[in-house]
Amino acid sequence: MKLIVTGGAGFIGSNFVHHVVAHTDHQITVLDKLTYAGNAASLEDLPEDRVRLVVGDIGDADLIDDLFRRHDAVVHYAAESHNDNSLADPRPFLDTNIVGTYTLLEAARRHDIRFHHVSTDEVYGDLELDDPDRFTESTPYNPSSPYSSTKAGSDLLVRAWIRSFGVRATISNCSNNYGPYQHVEKFIPRQITNVLRGIRPKLYGAGLNVRDWIHADDHSSAVLTILGTGVIGETYLIGADGERSNKDVVELILELSGLPTDAYDHVVDRAGHDLRYAIDSTKLRTELGWRPAYRDFREGLAATIEWYRAHEPWWSPAKDATEAFYAAQGQ
Ligand code: NAD
Ligand code: DAU
Repeated sequence: MKLIVTGGAGFIGSNFVHHVVAHTDHQITVLDKLTYAGNAASLEDLPEDRVRLVVGDIGDADLIDDLFRRHDAVVHYAAESHNDNSLADPRPFLDTNIVGTYTLLEAARRHDIRFHHVSTDEVYGDLELDDPDRFTESTPYNPSSPYSSTKAGSDLLVRAWIRSFGVRATISNCSNNYGPYQHVEKFIPRQITNVLRGIRPKLYGAGLNVRDWIHADDHSSAVLTILGTGVIGETYLIGADGERSNKDVVELILELSGLPTDAYDHVVDRAGHDLRYAIDSTKLRTELGWRPAYRDFREGLAATIEWYRAHEPWWSPAKDATEAFYAAQGQ
C-alpha cells in the first residue's frame, strides 16, 4: 500500500511511521508543514526507499490533489495539538484542524482514497474523578477548549463526508500518549527535561487531574489495525487502561530520576482544565482483536526518561522558548 501520513514529523505521526516501517511493507509519504512541533530529525534513521518527506500544508489543495492521485490511503495526524497554545492563540487551530481537514476530505472524495482520521478523547469533555463510567463511542461530544472543539469539529466533518459523499473513512479517538519524539511543551517531556536540566517540575493547580496514558507505539498498532480491518464509517476509541493523576506521574518521574518525590512546584492552573479522561476500548478489542503491548506504565516511563536522556540534541533547541512561553503565564 502507498500511504500518506499527514503530520508524520510530529510526535504520534513519527511513532506511527516507525511502527509501519517495522511491521509492514507499505511505502510512506509523510506530508508535514514542519511547524514548531514538527521535526524532520524524528524520521532520520528510517530507510529512504520506504519513507519520503514532503514539506507542505494540508490546506494546500493543489498539493493534496497531486499527492492523493498517487496514493491508496491517508492517515491524518496533522493538527495543532496543544491545549495551552490554543488558549493563547486559537486561530491556527481553526485553520489546520478544521479547514485543513476539510481540504483533505474534499480530495479524498475526488480521488476515492481510504481515509483514517486520528482524533482525541478530549472531544467528549471530561469526567468526575469518581465517575464509574468511561468514554465510549456513544458518549456525546462536549469539548472544553479551543483545541478540543476544533478536533470535535473535524470529527463531525469526517462523519458528514462519509454519510453525504461516501468517503471511505474511519475515525479513532485516543487518550494521552507518551513515548519518544514528544515535544517538550507536553506534560511528561516537559517534566523529564526539566529534571534533566535541574529545573523543578511544574504541576498545574493541585495536580489531581487524571489522564489515561497509552504508549505511542500502542496507539500506532491500533491505528494500523483499524486501517486494515476497521469498518468504513465506524469510530473506534483507543486506550490502554492507564489512568493516573498528574501528581502521581510527576512523583514517579522524580522517583525514577533518583530525586525526592516532593521536589516539584505547583503553578497557575490551566483555564477550563479538564478534570479526568478515561477510555473504554472494548469495541476495538472485541471487534478488531487489538491489545496494547505496553502494560507497565512505570517501565514505559523509565524507558521514555532514558530516551530523553540519550537524545538531548533532539529536544534542547525547543526547550528555552517553551519555558519562556510558560514563564510568561506563570506556569
Ligand atoms: P504534534 O503537535 O506533535 O504533531 C503535529 C504535526 O502536524 C507536526 O509535525 C506539525 O508540523 C504538523 N502540522 C501542523 N499543522 C500542519 C499543517 N497545516 N499541514 C501539515 N502539517 C501540519 O501532535 P501529536 O501529539 O503528534 O498529535 C497528532 C495527532 O494525534 C493530532 O491530530 C492529535 O489531535 C491526535 N492525538 C494526540 C494525542 C496525544 O496525546 N498527543 C492523543 C490523541 C490524539
Ligand atoms: O487526551 C488526549 C490529548 O492529550 C491530546 O488530544 C492532546 O493533543 C495532547 O496534548 C494531550 O492533551 P492534555 O492537555 O491532556 O496534555 P498535556 O501534556 O498538555 O497535559 C497533561 C496534563 O498535565 C494536563 O492535565 C495538564 C497538566 N500539565 C501540563 C503541563 C504542560 C501540568 O500539570 N504541568 C505542565 O507543565
